[in-house]
Amino acid sequence: MQKNLSKSIRTAIQVMLLLTLIAYGITGYGITEFRTVEALSLGLITKPVAFQIHNNLIFPFIILLLLHIFYKPLSRVIFKST
Ligand code: HEM
Repeated sequence: MQKNLSKSIRTAIQVMLLLTLIAYGITGYGITEFRTVEALSLGLITKPVAFQIHNNLIFPFIILLLLHIFYKPLSRVIFKST
């Protein structure tokens, strides 16, 4: 049971990290090739929006990356104490 929960949390962290990396790529492209990205996103991702998202992605990225890298020792501590 705890093993399943631990595995689900690990997978969730991996998926969110992957989505963050994809968002980094899209918004980065949205800054340099803003005309293309703005057209493809139907005007949703404009250059200032892409820039703001790209800059602020650092916070979730760092948190997810640390969780991802240190998940093993962290889960040992968390699931041992419950
Ligand atoms: C900046 C991006 C990433 C970095 C720097 C990174 C780094 C690492 C490191 C250092 C480990 C070894 C951790 C350990 O031994 O406990 C690891 C394991 C792993 N990573 Fe990543 N990772 C990144 C992104 C991703 C993404 C996006 C995925 C999945 C979509 C992923 C899937 C995995 C898997 C499956 C493992 C093995 C976990 C295990 O030991 O059970 N990684 N990664």
